[in-house]
Amino acid sequence: MNLSFVAILILILSFPSPSISVRCNPKDKQVLLQIKKDLGNPYHLASWDPNTDCCYWYVVKCDRKTNRINALTVFQANISGQIPTGVGDLPYLEILQFHHITNLTGTIQPTIAKLTNLRMLRLSFTNLTGPIPEFLSQLKKLTLLELDYNQLTGTIPASLSQLPNLNAIYLDRNKLTGQIPESFGKFKGQIPDIYLSHNSLTGQVPRSLGDLNFSTLDFSRNKLEGDVSFLFGKNKTIQTIDLSRNALEFDLSKVELPESLTSLDLNHNRIFGSLPQGLKDLQLQFFNVSYNRLCGQIPQGGTLQTFDMYSYLHNKCLCGSPLPDCK
Ligand SMILES: *[C@@H]1O[C@H](CO)[C@@H](O)[C@H](O)[C@H]1NC(C)=O
Ligand SMILES: *[C@@H]1O[C@H](CO)[C@@H](O)[C@H](O)[C@H]1NC(C)=O
Ligand SMILES: *[C@@H]1O[C@H](CO)[C@@H](O)[C@H](O)[C@H]1NC(C)=O
Ligand SMILES: *[C@@H]1O[C@H](CO)[C@@H](O)[C@H](O)[C@H]1NC(C)=O
Ligand SMILES: *[C@@H]1O[C@H](CO)[C@@H](O)[C@H](O)[C@H]1NC(C)=O
Ligand SMILES: *[C@@H]1O[C@H](CO)[C@@H](O)[C@H](O)[C@H]1NC(C)=O
Repeated sequence: MNLSFVAILILILSFPSPSISVRCNPKDKQVLLQIKKDLGNPYHLASWDPNTDCCYWYVVKCDRKTNRINALTVFQANISGQIPTGVGDLPYLEILQFHHITNLTGTIQPTIAKLTNLRMLRLSFTNLTGPIPEFLSQLKKLTLLELDYNQLTGTIPASLSQLPNLNAIYLDRNKLTGQIPESFGKFKGQIPDIYLSHNSLTGQVPRSLGDLNFSTLDFSRNKLEGDVSFLFGKNKTIQTIDLSRNALEFDLSKVELPESLTSLDLNHNRIFGSLPQGLKDLQLQFFNVSYNRLCGQIPQGGTLQTFDMYSYLHNKCLCGSPLPDCK
């Protein structure tokens, strides 16, 4: 046998054949192709070619060790239809995202309940309807639950407080009704940042929320009423509070402010009393108490005069810089 022929033969045999180097799990591939079909073969998923390795397809990722699909992140796509049932058949999924897809409709897909490895669930800027499902509280590994900018209705499931690893929960800009659950003052483990703005939440903010060290609470643009002074207090570590555009009614002069507070928005409520002197001692980066029923002199000092008059306008009788002098 010719020596160079042998050399070439060795070279060919030592080269990994494509069938050996394919990482994609065949079950995952089948599921993904069905998902593509159910979404109407959108242009966004054109790289999902059955003749190629699914680990290299657009908007999916494979785990390095298991080679199973662990992320499906669809972002800003021209896709019409519902979330396909197939997403529940990607058992290694840790990140599921459908973001900024205006024609994505229907409810939050029930098969998502099977995805117990999910760490991030982000269904946002879509047109999803229906309720926030109870089953989400079973996805114990979730660190981020983001369902903002949808058309979700119904009440907030109390069971969400059973999620022990949540860093943040975004339910803002939906059509949610009812009260903030009492259980939101009883998160065990990680205490999440909570975003509930632009909904139709009613009633009082539960007192239990005063028992936890939150760092961000955004309840703005709802229909909340009553007293929330328990959210403040010297023993808290909260940094950002946005309660603007509600119907809250309490005496601000009785509130003790936590040193950690850097952003406070209370505009458009029915808050009365005067501004506490303690405001001078805070490192405030944002402050707005306009459109309330406050009275008396604005404390002079700290960062309070770095905000313009629009942070203070439309109260009963607030006065002093940056508003006109007190009489
Ligand atoms: C949404 O769907 C409508 C009609 O079904 C279509 O005309 C439009 O182009 C779609 N838009 C996007 C961004 O997908
Ligand atoms: C979205 O896709 C539909 C059908 O595939 C097409 O008619 C429409 O023009 C696309 N819209 C945009 C904004 O690309
Ligand atoms: C929902 O769909 C409507 C029209 O069908 C559209 O005007 C709106 O922008 C969509 N919402 C979001 C958040 O994309
Ligand atoms: C702050 O103190 C009040 C009353 O002493 C207590 O009920 C509450 O649990 C404390 N909150 C925090 C976050 O420590
Ligand atoms: C909240 O943080 C403060 C200051 O670090 C601490 O004194 C207080 O015990 C904490 N409260 C809870 C309920 O963790
Ligand atoms: C404070 O709120 C009022 C009322 O919404 C608004 O007009 C003003 O611009 C706000 N100020 C700042 C600094 O955001």
